[in-house]
Amino acid sequence: AKITYIEHDGREHAVEVKPGLSVMEGAIRNNVPGIDADCGGACACATCHVYVDPDWLDKTGERSVMEESMLDFAEAVQDNSRLSCQIRVTDQLDGLVVRLPESQH
Ligand code: FES
Repeated sequence: AKITYIEHDGREHAVEVKPGLSVMEGAIRNNVPGIDADCGGACACATCHVYVDPDWLDKTGERSVMEESMLDFAEAVQDNSRLSCQIRVTDQLDGLVVRLPESQH
């Protein structure tokens, strides 16, 4: 699936991510800056925070309870904030757009 990551300064990275990986892993494997993922995807660090484009909120689904409590540690959380390690890439997410917070720059 094609995923576009937009850095806080507007730089766009459109990359192909295999279904089954997380949105976080897609960024790491393609050297997209702005996602630190200190915990390696265990939903325990909140440094993989992204803002999901409003058009994609339905398709990316709901935050889990664990994700919700981890997001308390992220900066500048908005309604469309997610932890990208908790979004599983599927063919349905082809075209997904996420924005990266300035704090992870
Ligand atoms: Fe640590 Fe997502 S990589 S919470």
